[in-house]
Amino acid sequence: MCGIVGYAGSESAAKVVYDGLKKLEYRGYDSAGIAVMNFGRIEVIKSVGRVEKLEKYAHILEGNVAIGHTRWATHGKPSTANAHPHSAGGITIVHNGIIENYAELKQKLVSEGEIFLSETDSEVIVRLIAKFYEGNLLNAVIKCAELLKGSYALLAICEGKNEIVAARYRSPVIIGLGDGCNFCASDEPALAGKCKHVCVLEDGDFAVLTADEVKICDSLGKEIKRQVWLNTAEPAALSLGGYPHFMIKELWEAPSTVKNTVSAFRQREEQIKDALSGVDKIILTGCGTAYHAALVGKRYFEELAGVEATVEYAGELRYNTPIISGHIVLIAVTQSGETADTVEAARLFKNLGAKVFAVTNSLHSEITRIADVVVPVAAGSEICVAATKSYSGQVSALYLLALQLSEKEVAKELLTELYGAPDLISQTLQDIDVYALAEMCARASGVYFLGRGIDYAVALEGSLKLKEISYLAGGGYPASELKHGTLALIDNKTLSAFIITDPDLAAKSANAVEQTISRGGMVAVITSLPEVQSQFAHRAEVVKLPECGKYLSPFASAAALQYLAYRTAVTLNRDPDKPRNLAKSVTVE
Ligand code: F6R
Repeated sequence: MCGIVGYAGSESAAKVVYDGLKKLEYRGYDSAGIAVMNFGRIEVIKSVGRVEKLEKYAHILEGNVAIGHTRWATHGKPSTANAHPHSAGGITIVHNGIIENYAELKQKLVSEGEIFLSETDSEVIVRLIAKFYEGNLLNAVIKCAELLKGSYALLAICEGKNEIVAARYRSPVIIGLGDGCNFCASDEPALAGKCKHVCVLEDGDFAVLTADEVKICDSLGKEIKRQVWLNTAEPAALSLGGYPHFMIKELWEAPSTVKNTVSAFRQREEQIKDALSGVDKIILTGCGTAYHAALVGKRYFEELAGVEATVEYAGELRYNTPIISGHIVLIAVTQSGETADTVEAARLFKNLGAKVFAVTNSLHSEITRIADVVVPVAAGSEICVAATKSYSGQVSALYLLALQLSEKEVAKELLTELYGAPDLISQTLQDIDVYALAEMCARASGVYFLGRGIDYAVALEGSLKLKEISYLAGGGYPASELKHGTLALIDNKTLSAFIITDPDLAAKSANAVEQTISRGGMVAVITSLPEVQSQFAHRAEVVKLPECGKYLSPFASAAALQYLAYRTAVTLNRDPDKPRNLAKSVTVE
């Protein structure tokens, strides 16, 4: 949420920062700005809207040190005044996070005569740094940080100094270590192809970057070392590679994500097995799509391994009072590893003494520093704001975890089944015909996704994806709940899409389909079961999925619904990669 980039080196800093911001645009695209140090003076450009609006200026601005920002508005509407960078008294900053005590700090600064130019919480930061500045930027940033409550990934520059000072608390900052140049950014994609090594700041760290050196220190200014990693961000993942949108490209990468996740799991299998030994209760948590993957995971743990599992939204769980008894394990599912609610729920359980597993696509993220065990999802960079391939990766990682707890012989069979998941997804995407259904969605006044059991978990994902990128109202419900209220919404303009893949529950879901047809609603049936296909042929829009076992069905049905959402967004001329009001990596509350 909000992307920040900094560069100190010998190239045109504005251009380097502009390129980095383009790669971080999935973190927010309400406005963007760059500040460049040019012969000791700071020049700032800003614009409302997407980063590309800065392109022509980025090519003109001269200077070798720059910081930049792409914004997801939290405090203050998207406007030029609220766009970062913010400047005061020769200092300029960019900030990702939320300063929770900004009103109090602002009031004090105003009483001292400061005049604020924006509605942002971030402006208090620059005014405090300017107030504390006495010739040493690092010291001024440290003094300012002492007063801040909330979260920040912060970059500051000061007129006359060729350095960037970075600070981190509960919002990510990654440092890129180059040859004669150094970088800092919110996320690894900004550094793809730019430098060989990276290191990650931890909460409470500060860093001073120049072209030749990076010094990391604590709040006393004492130098500290952080682990240096190879920079694995791939430039290829950041290009469309011939696809019209990242969403469809990434959906097609779901099969390789599952394959790679299985291989990555193998490498950590022994450690994972040991850590799971004796577990008698599992709590799964996550937000949005990750939560939906966790709902599928619950079925795997209970039905394949016989271990009790519950699923909680991370944003709720973090404020609960959990009772830790027996061998309880928290499994936090998060693509980015930086989602504030998921990270804080994990921290709560860790502090209470529970074992924490992180199922994540980001191996240097905050969640990996909290977790006892990291279960990798090998999706590579996911650029589209809407998650696709990471969902398939998360579901496969949870399936593998459940197999670790199930009986040996059963596990062997189920593992062989999982090897079929990549082909199942490819076959689904190749054969599926959702054009007519996408047209129906686009015309409907509301779209409801319904299912039972594992199909209900997938219905929620289908509904979220459609809302997120098509802006169509609706919801996901258990098919059993329809008659308890939702049926009142059904008329000839509403569309109800039933997902039916579980043979044991098919007849029950079919009853709900019949009830909806009887009340004149538009109906779609998305099913892998031939008997259900024949039952509703000519009476509903039937979308055929490849036949598959119950536990593999989410790979097919979720891919189908993600593709349906994509087609609907394209039909409605929406940008599926950058839905309005949203951003990837929700690092704020
Ligand atoms: C939906 C989507 C979001 C994320 C959610 C959690 O398409 O992408 O709902 O799934 O914000 O993000 P992570 O997995 O990074 O914790």
